[in-house]
Amino acid sequence: MNTLGRLEDLPIDYVAALKAQNLVPLWPSLRAVLPPDRPRPNTRATHWSYEALRPLLLKAGELTPIEKAERRVLVLANPGHGLEKMQASAAIYLGMQLLLPGEWAPSHRHTPNAVRMIVEGEGAYTTVDGEKCPMRRGDLILTPTGLWHEHGHDGSEPVVWLDVLDLPLVYYMEASYHVDGDRQTVKPQHGDRAYARGGVVPTPVFERSRRAYPMLRYPWADARAALESLAADQPGLEAVQVTYTNPETGGHAENILGFYALMLRPSQTLKLPVRSPATVFHVIEGAATVQVEDQHFRLAEADTCCAPGYTSVTLGNTSSSQPSFLFIADETPLHQKLGVFEVRP
Ligand SMILES: [Fe+2]
Repeated sequence: MNTLGRLEDLPIDYVAALKAQNLVPLWPSLRAVLPPDRPRPNTRATHWSYEALRPLLLKAGELTPIEKAERRVLVLANPGHGLEKMQASAAIYLGMQLLLPGEWAPSHRHTPNAVRMIVEGEGAYTTVDGEKCPMRRGDLILTPTGLWHEHGHDGSEPVVWLDVLDLPLVYYMEASYHVDGDRQTVKPQHGDRAYARGGVVPTPVFERSRRAYPMLRYPWADARAALESLAADQPGLEAVQVTYTNPETGGHAENILGFYALMLRPSQTLKLPVRSPATVFHVIEGAATVQVEDQHFRLAEADTCCAPGYTSVTLGNTSSSQPSFLFIADETPLHQKLGVFEVRP
């Protein structure tokens, strides 16, 4: 590959004349924006220990009342992007949110799509689009773009959840904003009950639902049962994995990020294909090892890590007796919609 001309190779007065007209020569930056063979991601493989972050999050509960935080969150920021950018990857934002007993995080809606994966605690709930969704360990609750949501807590212990948003992408698009709202009126509807079994959907007088997001809560008990059932049915299946889908369309549950649950059998090692999207792994139950190229991370329960796209990732379960269960988020729907999705041999 021949080296291209540098900015310093150009006469100073010529560069100044370009700048005065808001013009930039492409060739000094061409290799940086179009690197050979594969991207050069800023996203770095990064591990966030729950044991390390939990006391800091609980301390935030003492230092900052909910009224002063609105959402009391410690952002899991990727140092490769610079911590101030508050992003885990190009399109993924991760935050650990704390809600204390009796607290209420007021209703709002915004353009970025969010989900929450409940990490610990009982008694909290999120009301989304009028549907009251109880929050229990491992549950996935959607708050898709434009839908009102608020959080309350009737229990007696702190509740913590992992927020996963496409905020960096929507912010980059200059399309990110929020609207505050009044407390929602709870409607008698539960998507997780209406869509309680795969293969059958509600059709009152032959009509399919027209809601864009018919299912807002995906109980962990159901996702876990689906994984165990799949593992028992297919003992030779290498990857025991399910995708959280919109039950009316069969497509991904949200538009930009994809969400999955994976079961690793005792002592299993699983090499994932090299794919273009960045991926986040969060341990719901058990423990796991995550190897990203030559970096090794040991994830305990409730730990989270991320891997950039175009890298080889190998997951492992170090327990010889217990399965481990992972929640996974990635940028697959985004890459597919934009036509840049790739799987490499
Ligand atoms: Fe929100």
